[in-house]
Amino acid sequence: MAAGSSFSVTTPIFYVNDAPHIGHAYTEVAADVLARWHRQSGVPTWSLTGTDEHGQKILRTAVANGVTPKEWADKLVADAWVPLLKTIDIANDDFIRTTEERHESVVQQFLQKLYDDGLIYDGEYEGYYCVGCEEYKQQSDLVDGSGEFEGQYVCPIHGRPVEVLKEKNYFFRMSDFQQRLLDLYEAQPDFIQPDSLRNEIVSFVRRGLDDLSISRQSFDWGVRVPWDDKHVVYVWFDALINYISALGWNPETPGELFDRFWPSNHIVGKDIARFHAVIWPAMLMAADLPVPARVFGHGWLLVGGEKMSKSKLTGIAPSQITDVFGSDAFRYYFLRAIAFGQDGSFSWEDLAARYQAELANGFGNLASRVVAMIGRYCDGAVPAAGELTAAESSIQKTVADAVAAADAAIGRFAIHEAIAAIWSVVDELNGYLTEQEPWKVAKDDSQSERLHTILATAAEGLRALAVLLSPVLPQATAKLWRALGAEAALGALTDQRIPDAGAWGQLPAGSQTEPLEALFPRIEHEASA
Ligand code: ME8
Ligand code: MG
Repeated sequence: MAAGSSFSVTTPIFYVNDAPHIGHAYTEVAADVLARWHRQSGVPTWSLTGTDEHGQKILRTAVANGVTPKEWADKLVADAWVPLLKTIDIANDDFIRTTEERHESVVQQFLQKLYDDGLIYDGEYEGYYCVGCEEYKQQSDLVDGSGEFEGQYVCPIHGRPVEVLKEKNYFFRMSDFQQRLLDLYEAQPDFIQPDSLRNEIVSFVRRGLDDLSISRQSFDWGVRVPWDDKHVVYVWFDALINYISALGWNPETPGELFDRFWPSNHIVGKDIARFHAVIWPAMLMAADLPVPARVFGHGWLLVGGEKMSKSKLTGIAPSQITDVFGSDAFRYYFLRAIAFGQDGSFSWEDLAARYQAELANGFGNLASRVVAMIGRYCDGAVPAAGELTAAESSIQKTVADAVAAADAAIGRFAIHEAIAAIWSVVDELNGYLTEQEPWKVAKDDSQSERLHTILATAAEGLRALAVLLSPVLPQATAKLWRALGAEAALGALTDQRIPDAGAWGQLPAGSQTEPLEALFPRIEHEASA
């Protein structure tokens, strides 16, 4: 478990130029599992997500669609980005939009503070800009165009020519913070994770930092620069501030939420790790505020070897998956199949295979069998265990070890390792039933104590699994909790503390089970081609 008396986690705020695909949903579920795990560990927790609505990319999309940028953003937020959270079962505490007054006013106050402190000056920017990235580019970031883009410099990420800017802009003295950033990376080695990303960013900063242009005056879709209303704030400078504006920070009164929950852990894709691990901490240092707790840059979901993207139209809508497999399977699959921090290729075949093997046959079938046998052999009442053998002690140890291993893995944000550790309990319980054959023991009346021990052990193992898997599989574990009759004796599932999940013997004998529908039903039709 991450040290500290509270836990705060954020996703990027996503551009509303288009609807979300499974890449955005991946970031959301990862942050959500971390938040739910900490919440269920009794740690005061805050999770934030939202939308990034200013800048040229959104403006141009709106114009191309014949509406104002605010109309466009309102529609995308209401029709696509907020519904996404329900589709994949996200339990966020707040959703921030950069067009909200609570955010815009904080951007202006933050900027004014830096200006008053001499950290912003006016100058002229001459160079390249990629609207797809909303980023100023060095020539060395670009490639030579060919075909219709012959003779132009092209952004390799978006495959489109960059624009050449020559504008009077305001600049942030970012170069002043080079050494302080390097000191930060040194003093806090897990500030940027994973290590591969950390190394990349450290060498980038070692090569030297330029001052950053933080305003634009050739268009007006953005937050006004407070002392010069011909300028709007550069969209990234505006967007990064969401992490503290949502906590109610302002220069006069940081506020109660900010005091409790800043600094946050930022979960982002590695494409935008530099903004979060270089520009953002420099901004915070300039404002005399604490830097983030951690910046974790996860890998990309790839389609045909390339990053899935809105602009290349390779996006798969999350609902295409959840409509067939359900939200729990979505959450499980991406967090289990891909090592968190590395790239992963999505395939329908792999998803369907893991659904069947791990969720339906592994966990779902285990739960159904145990609940059904308690129904059949014990009139639906969880039996009392009799004398224990080595097989039962081994289950208890597996569960206790899994709790410790999973909790340690979550502390490192190694979500895939946490799930693998918990799954050792699923596998061990399945093996236990295969070996003990309670359906055979049940045929011999003289062995009823042994039968009761086996079923009590299996039910108690399921009790622990429901608690441990609740952050990942909130729907299935809630059904299992009800079926075990656990609520009456133990209270709500989400009130069960994860660190206590390994303590044996919590589900009382006599708990009334209820029939359990298949947690992961067979998929009838072929998953979409
Ligand atoms: O960058 N694989 O927004 P954005 C995994 N507004 N994750 C992916 C992905 C993929 N193929 N594609 C997108 C922005 N993502 C800014 C952020 S924060 C202050 C401002 C996820 O809509 C991943 O989290 O382009 C990535 O970093 C993010 O979406 C980019 O979303
Ligand atoms: Mg992007």
